Amino acid sequence: PLPQMLQGSKVIVTAGGTVERLDPVRYITNDSSGKMGFAIAKAAKQMGADVRIIAGNTSAAPPEGIAVERVGSAQDMYEAVMRHWEDCSMLVMAAAVADYRPKEEAPSKLKKQGDTLQLELVKTVDILESLGQRKTKQFLIGFAAETEQLDRYAREKLERKNCDLLVANDVTVAGAGFGTDTNAVHIYDRNGLVEQLPVMSKYEVAYRLLTAAAVRMDRA
Ligand code: PMT
Repeated sequence: PLPQMLQGSKVIVTAGGTVERLDPVRYITNDSSGKMGFAIAKAAKQMGADVRIIAGNTSAAPPEGIAVERVGSAQDMYEAVMRHWEDCSMLVMAAAVADYRPKEEAPSKLKKQGDTLQLELVKTVDILESLGQRKTKQFLIGFAAETEQLDRYAREKLERKNCDLLVANDVTVAGAGFGTDTNAVHIYDRNGLVEQLPVMSKYEVAYRLLTAAAVRMDRA
């Protein structure tokens, strides 16, 4: 059994990729399997938290015994998070949320036209950033999936999105990032690098991350 460091906390974990529809049969998504978010939810529950998962598209199965709410687009995920935000003590944004969506969602299947097709994309809501601006007591954990300049982009995201912790994965490292059972991450807080974890199971990463969070929540 894990130490009950999250006893009494209400934790929301987002997982998986959002789905941004073009028409009834086509969409834009990404390679997130949901494994990282699901591992965090499982570890949080085992550390005593009351946990809710808000999941987009996932190929992995969610852990048993935890409430899962399914969503499609970034906008849907934002609305679902907002419904539970008020009385939540920690939000972990492990989901891979689309930054852009098709400007229009066609009501019926798009017909094949000429040799090229232009798609117009518009920005989605940044869930983490908008909650970062509005947080009161909530402890906010963001993720960053990067392919270069991990440290710089991670610190920049932590600041801009007003997170308490930020987990950066270098998705170019073997055994880290999308789809794998393992991850290798750097964890930052406002003062800089907290931990640099080598490749380990996503469950182990989750436990180390939540321990770093619990210690900081107690101090706040
Ligand atoms: O699901 P797995 O296959 O296990 O893979 C895990 C993972 C690689 C998806 C996960 O570890 C991860 O890094 N998730 C965040 C991926 C991502 O979208 O990173 P980003 O740098 O684009 O976004 C930064 C942060 O802002 C993230 O916490 C993201 O959830 C959040 N965000 C991004 C865009 C947006 N519109 N709203 C957001 O809230």
